[in-house]
Amino acid sequence: MDDLKKPILPGKGNSDYERYLRTDELLSLQKPDQELLHKDEMTFQVIHQSSEILLKGVAFELGRARTLIEEGDFANACRLIRRANQMLEYPVSMLHVLETITPYDYHIIRAGLGHGSGLDSPGFLSLLHIGPRLGEAFHAQLHKAGVTVDDVYRRHAELFGLHDTAERLLDFDERAHIFRFHHLKLAQRIIGGGVVGTMGTPVEVLHQRMEHFFYKDLWDVRNRITAKANEAMQKG
Ligand code: HEM
Repeated sequence: MDDLKKPILPGKGNSDYERYLRTDELLSLQKPDQELLHKDEMTFQVIHQSSEILLKGVAFELGRARTLIEEGDFANACRLIRRANQMLEYPVSMLHVLETITPYDYHIIRAGLGHGSGLDSPGFLSLLHIGPRLGEAFHAQLHKAGVTVDDVYRRHAELFGLHDTAERLLDFDERAHIFRFHHLKLAQRIIGGGVVGTMGTPVEVLHQRMEHFFYKDLWDVRNRITAKANEAMQKG
């Protein structure tokens, strides 16, 4: 029985848990206590690093979903997009943890960030990379089926797989938007809405980037459906 407690995996650590998860390396990626510019810097690092890992997971699942869409396997594509969307909830909610850092304390931490900017976040950049490619895979399937986005919404029961995929893509787009919204609020709260950074007017940049949607056509189709419904109502 004692033998089960002994690690059998290669690597560092006294248990297979530590070896498999490489907790030794993972937990050495934060500044040691004595190097923290402010005690709140631990939270700042932990939240950013966790967000990067989760965003990596999100992009990975979306990459798999893209392949499944290309193969016409919409059910499994939707399963993975749902998973990715659930994972994306956490980087959003973790932004709120950082709202507990007060502006004066944040500036002590900020002094040690060099030219570091979230614009260079590998995790978020990977979402910006995969998002449009998922859209292209979806549109290629529309083309193959000989239908338009409007058809997919009108004939949603018949075209269930395509409709479900469209809705999951919309969920993803909405979450990316919600991330940007809560992040904008965080930046306004901590450094202010009118500050000029080295890259121009940072918070203004964040405003502009809020205009970005991955799947504008999936949002726009709603306008056409409502316009049609209004027209039909007016005709009585
Ligand atoms: C104290 C907390 C934070 C502040 C004050 C803050 C501030 C900012 C500012 C001012 C920008 C604009 C570009 C620049 O001038 O650097 C930016 C961009 C960005 N930040 Fe943060 N940020 C914070 C936390 C986070 C966290 C936790 C993440 C999670 C990964 C993140 C991800 C991003 C991303 C992805 C962008 C680019 C936005 C886009 O493309 O729309 N930030 N941040």
